[in-house]
Amino acid sequence: MCGIVGYVGARSAQDVVIDGLRRMEYRGYDSAGIALVHDGRLASRKRAGKLGNLEKAISEEPLPASELGLGHTRWATHGAPNDVNAHPHLGATGRVALVHNGIIENFADLRARLEADDHVLISETDSEVAAHLLELQVESGVDLTVAMQRVCQQLEGAFTLVAIDAQDPDRVVAARRNSPLVVGIGEGENFLGSDVAAFIEHTREALELGQDQVVTITRDGVSVTAFDGSPAEGRRFHVDWDLSAAEKDGHDWFMRKEIFEQPRAVADSLLGRRTRSGQLQLDEMRLSDQELRDIDKIIIIAAGTSFYAGMVAKYAIEHWCRIPVEVELSSEFRYRDPILDYSTLVVAISQSGETADTLQAIRHARTQRSKVLAICNTNGSTIPRESDAVIYTHAGPEIGVASTKGFLTQLIACYLLALYLAQVKGTRYGDEITQVMEQLEAMPAHIETVLAGSEAIYDLAREHVGTRSFLFLGRHAGYPVALEGALKLKELAYLHAEGFAAGELKHGPIALVEDGLPVLCVVPPEGRDQLHDKMISGIQEVRARGARTICLAEEGDTSIEPYADVLIRLPRVPVLLQPLVAVVPLQLFACELASAMGHDVDQPRNLAKSVTVE
Ligand code: F6R
Repeated sequence: MCGIVGYVGARSAQDVVIDGLRRMEYRGYDSAGIALVHDGRLASRKRAGKLGNLEKAISEEPLPASELGLGHTRWATHGAPNDVNAHPHLGATGRVALVHNGIIENFADLRARLEADDHVLISETDSEVAAHLLELQVESGVDLTVAMQRVCQQLEGAFTLVAIDAQDPDRVVAARRNSPLVVGIGEGENFLGSDVAAFIEHTREALELGQDQVVTITRDGVSVTAFDGSPAEGRRFHVDWDLSAAEKDGHDWFMRKEIFEQPRAVADSLLGRRTRSGQLQLDEMRLSDQELRDIDKIIIIAAGTSFYAGMVAKYAIEHWCRIPVEVELSSEFRYRDPILDYSTLVVAISQSGETADTLQAIRHARTQRSKVLAICNTNGSTIPRESDAVIYTHAGPEIGVASTKGFLTQLIACYLLALYLAQVKGTRYGDEITQVMEQLEAMPAHIETVLAGSEAIYDLAREHVGTRSFLFLGRHAGYPVALEGALKLKELAYLHAEGFAAGELKHGPIALVEDGLPVLCVVPPEGRDQLHDKMISGIQEVRARGARTICLAEEGDTSIEPYADVLIRLPRVPVLLQPLVAVVPLQLFACELASAMGHDVDQPRNLAKSVTVE
């Protein structure tokens, strides 16, 4: 997730772009850059780090006046967050400048083809290939719009691209597939942005682009085509949000926005993971197949929500790969003198990549000669830098302190790791792995289905204002979901909430149950290992003692109906993947209840987004 701005009109393009980038910075702050057209040439500056670094660079070496330009704030996916990988990227002769949000899945093939034709690509990004391809097209004599259409037909993946041509001082061209892009319509000027916050102070008239469309903005107009050049149309709308709502895409809290971004975050985290022949590939794996085959034990270390993702990973890895997995809180790990050696793989899961407990744990593991693989959302952060291998999640920046899309994308990375190990170790056939990948690729649509039912969950949450205590029950992969549901409620609503493995309840915690106590139950899908029936027994036990049961159960499960005071339906998915859909209602519930109680959902008391002290 990056922020993109484009402008053509009568104002200073530098001012419009920099102001727009300031409002886009919440989308990524690994680097910022700008390019302007002046006198038949491009002028560009870009710097790693926050926008302030770019502004400093411009003040030291000012840019020429210009009325046309583009800018970018980066959330790094391919390549470290440094100056070279910052956008804009230029074509081979510096005629075209381009910014990109998304992931170009086939960039490795395209890059190899360009390099075979003597192109020198200086960054590690997937984006630079698009700049080179675009410049090749304009050099062949077509205008930037046609060039963009042709290039988009060669690209696979998700992308918003915005480009300018030094020899065309009146046109900014953009394209979108599966990534956001909005046009701001002014008088004698037009704008482009990743969202309306980029231009809301200049115009409230906007045009939303459809899938696979190219848009050209000039001072006097906006024209839209499909990738094949045929005429197309966007959807006009008027923006009546204020600026802070605009940054939150109309939601009241970043957390709520991030919950609704999960289908996209999951889809992005799955992009580019399969080769044409169907083999899984993890681009920053950096451990050889032999090193992976030598692994005889995995220890997952993480904190908080990431720890619960690790618990789900244990079920998936042990089931698909038959490697024993331990899951350990990172703050406890090194104090128990863990047994580690070169055949132990330590997997560190951290959204921020900066959690001190997890960092110290991986440092300890490396002193014991264990290999460390990080699952992380923050490119260039300390934990992946100090690890032997990384799987990056592509959630984009998570601003709400309570993790939501971070968690779902960690689950995706855990499943990918498990399947990759199964592929390397040969514990699953290729077609079994393909089948799970297809099930994973269907998940964004399933998560959308859950989100479509959010109003009913909000009503339920508001009914519980004034309730002081909640229990959450789950079994198997639903157990970590129960723990995560309870954690969300604790941290956001400051209420007593506890998650239990349903079978454990009778060994003590059932004494907590009293009349009217809400118990949220994650019901496993029917039909495997009696899990479902055992869960129903647990639900009966709490109902018999007066609990009010709120059951999350799959569509078509009728046997749960007599035991549920409230029933929240989940799409039918395999038990190991159920956390991806089951946790979403619990996130919505906690977010709405905390909001209804008047709490600051994005910045709960006593918490910090990354915990950099032990
Ligand atoms: C809960 C939450 C925290 C983090 C934990 C680990 O909503 O956000 O529990 O999951 O502090 O943080 P990372 O994943 O950044 O290491």
